[in-house]
Amino acid sequence: MQQLIKRAETVLEALPYLIKFNNKIIVIKYGGAAMQSEELKHKVIQDVILLKMMGMEPVLVHGGGPEINKYLRKQKIEPKFIGGYRVTDKETMKVVQKVLGEKINQQIVSLIKKAGGKAKGFFGKKGRVIKAFKYWKKDENGEKIDLGFTGQVGGIRFRYLKKWMKLGYIPVLTSIGVGKRGGVYNINADKAAAAIAAYLKAEKLIMMTDVKGVLNTSGELISHVNTYKAGKMIKGGSISGGMIPKVKSCLYALRKGVKTAHIIDGRVPHAILLELFTDHGIGTMVKK
Ligand code: ARG
Repeated sequence: MQQLIKRAETVLEALPYLIKFNNKIIVIKYGGAAMQSEELKHKVIQDVILLKMMGMEPVLVHGGGPEINKYLRKQKIEPKFIGGYRVTDKETMKVVQKVLGEKINQQIVSLIKKAGGKAKGFFGKKGRVIKAFKYWKKDENGEKIDLGFTGQVGGIRFRYLKKWMKLGYIPVLTSIGVGKRGGVYNINADKAAAAIAAYLKAEKLIMMTDVKGVLNTSGELISHVNTYKAGKMIKGGSISGGMIPKVKSCLYALRKGVKTAHIIDGRVPHAILLELFTDHGIGTMVKK
């Protein structure tokens, strides 16, 4: 009996957050380990369905870099990057559409359905939910670098998405956008998730990664950090490597009005629930 009551208390711990996040949009960038292992995949899907059933509005955004590279190599195309950005030529764009849209997006949607939830996949031209334009990277001299069909988010069909959400669907978005003239662009998934969170005026942006979160110089997890300090840590070099674009994406979303951004460890089962419904969370929370 005591044990049962304890269980009820665990559930109750979530109540203040359920009240706070009721009806709020939570954008989840899904990727990394959590997208590669079957078991973790299932747990993420369960978490997301649970959020929806508990009255929140989760929106999944996914990329699939490693899968794309694997597929490109199979076709004897060597993946190319400049400053962390994929150079997307015509052939690569075809592969991106195939792998992200036809494979990964549909797989996530069908996993949600199998687990009892309702999901609607949007990729590229399907629904044209993400509007995009070409992204020009600049080199250190300010010269434009041509990355081909690599794009950035220019807008979201918010009302259209909302309509599906109201009907009980969890939107699953691929980081492919459509340009004014109907051309498709490949968008970095972290940046896409941040921009989507901003356009949707989300309560939260959650980045699922393969690390514990933002670490201090001794390698310990930093549980909370404000935007000022995070900016300083990037400049000072204590946030480095692959963490930089993640934190920058979080800072962008917060600047645009998203309330909190979270970097969490997708290798931990049910990381989303632990972050959202406990006081301490398990990753790094970035706030203004
Ligand atoms: N559950 C609360 C929220 O989602 C607090 C999370 C705190 N997380 C952290 N990494 N310190 O807002």
